[in-house]
Amino acid sequence: MKQTANVTVTDYATGMKIFRSPDFGVDHPFRATRQIFGPSVLDTEAATHVERKRSWMAQFLPARIASPEVQGMIARAVDEGFAHAAEQDDLLAAAVYIPNRVLLLLLGLEDIDPIEHHTKLRAITDFLETNARNPEVMAARTYLQEGPFAATHALFDGLDDERQRNELLLFSYAAGETTFVAMKCMLLLWAQDPAQFAARIAEEGVKSFLATNMRNDPPLGIATRYCKQDTEIDGLTFAKGDLVHVDIVTANKTCPMSATGVPMDFTFGAGKHSCPGHLLAKAELEAVIERLSALDGARYRIEGDLDAPRPLNFRDPGDVRITSALELA
Ligand code: HEM
Repeated sequence: MKQTANVTVTDYATGMKIFRSPDFGVDHPFRATRQIFGPSVLDTEAATHVERKRSWMAQFLPARIASPEVQGMIARAVDEGFAHAAEQDDLLAAAVYIPNRVLLLLLGLEDIDPIEHHTKLRAITDFLETNARNPEVMAARTYLQEGPFAATHALFDGLDDERQRNELLLFSYAAGETTFVAMKCMLLLWAQDPAQFAARIAEEGVKSFLATNMRNDPPLGIATRYCKQDTEIDGLTFAKGDLVHVDIVTANKTCPMSATGVPMDFTFGAGKHSCPGHLLAKAELEAVIERLSALDGARYRIEGDLDAPRPLNFRDPGDVRITSALELA
């Protein structure tokens, strides 16, 4: 039997061709996400993907994110998240709390504690990194599948029951984990040099500042595709069955400018599988930035090793804290 290869693509132009080519897809029965959430928008193609994606896009339109309802949820999550961080004496605890609180509020699951939710799902992150099944992964899967997350809900309600269920399960995990990593990275950047952080925002504007930071330090490091038929792109040959990993960290360094002078990158993916939740994530990050401007950065210090190796997928900076004996409350 022919051996399939793992190929890593590090160049933006080649990565974009892969994201746009019909020869590369996400539809694979052994894909790790499919083992946990069932077939979802993340690992289906063709008409079923279009239908699911349309449902996602409808839920996360700019007008919905800007609505008083969603902005109210974000403001509440930020208030509670900073209070939780004060209790823990770790500003990074807010990065766990806020995205998970927002997603639980969006699901109408106000009674679930965001920290407990996140803790119960940690094993899924390890599984998506290593593909190694263990009892903790199975417990996390059971928590998702047998908990209230799959109950019929207004989110994705244009889909049939099974499709809606899988998208709800995916949402219950993905909306928290990616934004958690992004928020943690951003808080660490602030704590390293709060004055420079504020000066850059004043100079660049908050949206551009956020985009630049996430381009330089993308929360999600890899987007994987399966090669569906032998093909060649930019002198690289790909065989049917190859796993192709677009290395977002490296490719982002080679990203070009758009016609309007805005740099393009893969932080939120590209092509038909690009991220439908980017506006929600950015709205949460902006709300945290606003809150940070009221804190005295000189009173905080980072504990832990910022140079420790990070996972390839969800690029969590790991075992670090931002502590202060004096502030936060
Ligand atoms: C800073 C936070 C986030 C980052 C960096 C991020 C990044 C990404 C990237 C790179 C992809 C493309 C993956 C691929 O092509 O294989 C993606 C897809 C996706 N993201 Fe996000 N994401 C974030 C937040 C969110 C949020 C908040 C949600 C939910 C509201 C979400 C839902 C999804 C979904 C459902 C997909 C799959 C789309 C498809 O396959 O068509 N993401 N995300």
